[in-house]
Amino acid sequence: MAHLGFPTLTVLDHPLIRHKLAIMRDQSTATKNFRQLLGEIAMLMTYEVTRDLPTEPVEVATPLETVQSERVAGKKLVLVPILRAGLGMVDGILQLVPSARVGHIGLFRDHDTLKPVSYYFKVPQGEAGREFLILDPMLATGGSAVAAVDKLKAVGASRIKFLCLVAAPEGVAALAQAHPEVPIFAAALDRELNDVGYILPGLGDAGDRLFGTR
Ligand code: PRP
Ligand code: URA
Repeated sequence: MAHLGFPTLTVLDHPLIRHKLAIMRDQSTATKNFRQLLGEIAMLMTYEVTRDLPTEPVEVATPLETVQSERVAGKKLVLVPILRAGLGMVDGILQLVPSARVGHIGLFRDHDTLKPVSYYFKVPQGEAGREFLILDPMLATGGSAVAAVDKLKAVGASRIKFLCLVAAPEGVAALAQAHPEVPIFAAALDRELNDVGYILPGLGDAGDRLFGTR
């Protein structure tokens, strides 16, 4: 569903996504289940996010005759999780797009300034023609997302989408202002940020809940 006031945002509010996200938000959900649900939601989101992938005709021989069919065309998709929490979305997407490439962007938020600190960057070569999906469950102030897109653009990427689970209005606005051509896909648009940059109602610290580091 496109969102009034946020033209770059699509909220993928399928009933299964809403159901699974509700369990993830619950503070009593165990790490094991949180991890599984994050992967499942990422997989469900992939179905919509890849809807505009280009295809090309291909002739296939069935056991009975040949048929004009279609296959996905162009260079392989690149998944780019933002470390750490974005890692939890990779496997679910690879189940649907098994030949996708995977890059990594290491960023963490400085707890005092809330500004992203960069510590790792590695993506596949041949950026110009590829589509990149940046993965991060949380879009809070938007600082990490904007930095991730900046870094991809700096190496020549131009087709970029941003996938998250929970978006704050502040983060959607920040990413749209910095990179208005980057579509944002979220499972939910939450109310606001609190004064230490956490999303309300949110789901807490996604990295800590995913890896059990709290
Ligand atoms: C979280 C989250 C995002 C970022 C979002 O990561 O996974 O990357 O915060 O916040 P922002 O929109 O305000 O930039 P965190 O910095 O906690 O790093 P971690 O996953 O390595 O713990
Ligand atoms: N990062 C998280 O993991 N959770 C938030 O609510 C905000 C940023």
